[in-house]
Amino acid sequence: MSSVKSAENLVEKMKATLLDYGKVYGSERLVECKSCHFVTSCGLRFVKSMFTIMQKLADAGLKCKVPLTANPRPLDTKAYPLLERLVGSYLYGKQSLLESLLLKLGLISRDAFTCTPYYIGNKPEYGEVVAWAESSAVIYANSVIGARTNRNSAMIELFSGILGLTPEFGLLLDENRKASWLIEVKTTSRPKFFVLGSLIGKTILEDIPYIVGLDRWDVNEYELKDMGAAMASWGAVGLFHVEEVTPEAKEKERSKLLEEGYRRLVVDDLSMKEMEALMRKGEHDSEPDLIVIGCPHLSKEQIADWVRKVEGRRFTRRTLMLAAPKIIDEVKNSRDYMRLQNAGVCLSSICPLMFTNIPITKRLRIVTNSGKLAYYSHAIFMDDSQLLEKFTAPA
Ligand code: F3S
Repeated sequence: MSSVKSAENLVEKMKATLLDYGKVYGSERLVECKSCHFVTSCGLRFVKSMFTIMQKLADAGLKCKVPLTANPRPLDTKAYPLLERLVGSYLYGKQSLLESLLLKLGLISRDAFTCTPYYIGNKPEYGEVVAWAESSAVIYANSVIGARTNRNSAMIELFSGILGLTPEFGLLLDENRKASWLIEVKTTSRPKFFVLGSLIGKTILEDIPYIVGLDRWDVNEYELKDMGAAMASWGAVGLFHVEEVTPEAKEKERSKLLEEGYRRLVVDDLSMKEMEALMRKGEHDSEPDLIVIGCPHLSKEQIADWVRKVEGRRFTRRTLMLAAPKIIDEVKNSRDYMRLQNAGVCLSSICPLMFTNIPITKRLRIVTNSGKLAYYSHAIFMDDSQLLEKFTAPA
């Protein structure tokens, strides 16, 4: 079959797949899609069908019509202890094949591997429909940017990116973006955002929250990122509104964004304390082997913030700070790099979850400031100030 014919065939098959997939959720049509973020960024040796499909698409010369980025890489030889490096290289043995296929399919750059695509040039506009499939990125796109995406399954996002079309249902539609929970934050001080997100996600599961009480503080964009990632992992939340803060909640008044008969959750100091205790379950007195900071990947502002926090101090345990390759390159070209090195920090762009998926990592004691990593792995949660107090000493 000629490559033109084969490309036409594949386009028809992808269209039919998206239509069938959409029908399951009541969708009747495909709508324009402006961006794609690919979730399955690890070249797992045992996965076959995904590679077969991607290879066919690449051989037919098909490419994404929209910006394409992918989730973080699983491997970083500099960051891993020797045993993990060896087992990881075996487990993720198809990594170079995966990366070469993604490049052929339109990855925006050789290093576009991060769960924060919006920090490296793949940032949709308010109201635009996109096809993303990484839960922390999906909730960020919907809530912080005000773009529209469902929590897509792997390959659905890639087909949508190649066709420039995606099925219209769920969070793409106004009527499904209303909140069914009113969350009243009544803590006496600025909440820990990873803990707050975990508490909300664990309580409301896949619903949408409308959060009030956070406008008492000047909430950072990256605090919303981290809170969302926790909600999307302790529950399956794909969108949240924060009164006076997130774009849709700024545009519409409370009554327009809350469903009738909504439920209520009051968050106070006690419920936050109980949630944090749950996230620290399994904590031990022995020193950790590894500290992981940056899941989801850190923004430039977060790294600058850490530089200030560790000034004059040094981590006493092996510490990974994670960010997109592009962000790390920028840090490496600044004075901050030397400061982080002096503080004993190793910068990397891996996904720590794929690291902890390597079976022998269970022997390692890991602590993390990420509510998401604490949920999915054996890592124990500690917030930034606890990490600084327990695991740094004067340099
Ligand atoms: Fe990102 Fe991996 Fe954490 S995809 S959110 S670094 S689990």
